[in-house]
Amino acid sequence: MAIVLTQDEPELLAGQDSSSRGSPNLRQFIRLLDDAGLLVRVPEPVHWKFEIGRRTRETRKPLLFENIIGYPGQRVFTNGLCNTACVAIALGIDRDDSRPAILREARRRLESPFSPRLAEASALCGNLTKADHPDLTRLPIPHWSELDAARYLGTWHINVSKDPETGERNIGVYRMQLLDRHHATVSAFPGSHLAMHVRKAERLNRLLPLAVAIGVPEAVMTAAAAGCPPGKDEFELAAALLQRPLDLTRCPGVALEVPVESEIVAEGFIQPGVRVQDGPFLDYRGVQNTNSEAFLFEATQLWIRDMPIFRGASVGTPGGEDHQLFSLLAELGLLDFHGSRLRHGVQNALLRRGLFGIFQRVSKAGAMLGPLARIKASPSP
Ligand SMILES: Cc1cc2nc3c(=O)[nH]c(=O)nc-3n(C[C@H](O)[C@H](O)[C@H](O)COP(=O)(O)O)c2cc1C
Repeated sequence: MAIVLTQDEPELLAGQDSSSRGSPNLRQFIRLLDDAGLLVRVPEPVHWKFEIGRRTRETRKPLLFENIIGYPGQRVFTNGLCNTACVAIALGIDRDDSRPAILREARRRLESPFSPRLAEASALCGNLTKADHPDLTRLPIPHWSELDAARYLGTWHINVSKDPETGERNIGVYRMQLLDRHHATVSAFPGSHLAMHVRKAERLNRLLPLAVAIGVPEAVMTAAAAGCPPGKDEFELAAALLQRPLDLTRCPGVALEVPVESEIVAEGFIQPGVRVQDGPFLDYRGVQNTNSEAFLFEATQLWIRDMPIFRGASVGTPGGEDHQLFSLLAELGLLDFHGSRLRHGVQNALLRRGLFGIFQRVSKAGAMLGPLARIKASPSP
């Protein structure tokens, strides 16, 4: 059964239509988790370096860090999709529904499309404040684990780009390591649509515009992580999962659209012909992964909502929220690791059964075998 959102908290819903139905945006989601007694607020000071990541891995409950040392007024939210009840709430479905009922509702939505729609050009600027300089270190970006090389800007976010030849849009989730104030890596699998866009931009010797939106509705994140054939707009998939129109707005500086319901938007470019090292990073298999062929993102503008909520994830723990999301996508037939058919079939079967420990071990073994040994020099989710 779908939940109808009625009691909207003004502070939490700045910029939202109070009659919105369907899946919640991030602030509504956090509010619903709180109402259901599932949210753990962390009011005491925490450090972005290791502490947020460690507590995220240890607690296994949705966590809202409200007091980040050096970042007054900013919050970090993690573990949002840590179990089936939370997945249901994120999609605006009754959390007491059984897992099969939740999946039935999600499948029904995929067959009941809604459209993304373009909001006024000012929608983004009206809700978000432009930072004076595109200084990414203004954000409370966690250094999630001692096994990671650095802080990771992108662990639970969306990357928006367009095919430089056809103009077709892609949204995906590709991890991003903070390099300095204005730069981050983008670690995309060579078979991903973003990598395809980069290769085309490089043939044309052009910068590839990229927008990074953090703190989007979980349904939008889910659609970004889904395997979608080129030409199929993942924002349409997101709107179907939301079961309400998805308002998009044009980025002020680049010809890309992002959800109005974003907490943070960094826009900029991927530099053609440049590759940088990403990682090591503790990945979904629980192993340190390095990608020496990552793309280089240069931020040119940064937009931040008032009292922003930075959304991120500490991946690599069996059954963590990344695995929960993969499991949901596997059940919906939307998971795509861009690997061999055999690998795909085995991973899907394990994820559908919730066998996360075995899924990790098989994924790790698969990466070390045969042609997939390349994975060491390639990114992985
Ligand atoms: C939490 C999370 C992190 C991910 N990280 C990466 C990543 O770093 N690189 C990558 O290529 N795919 C990553 N993925 C998987 C892609 O988002 C997924 O394959 C998606 O379908 C890619 O979109 P595309 O097929 O349009 O390229 C991640 C998925 C999730 C849920």
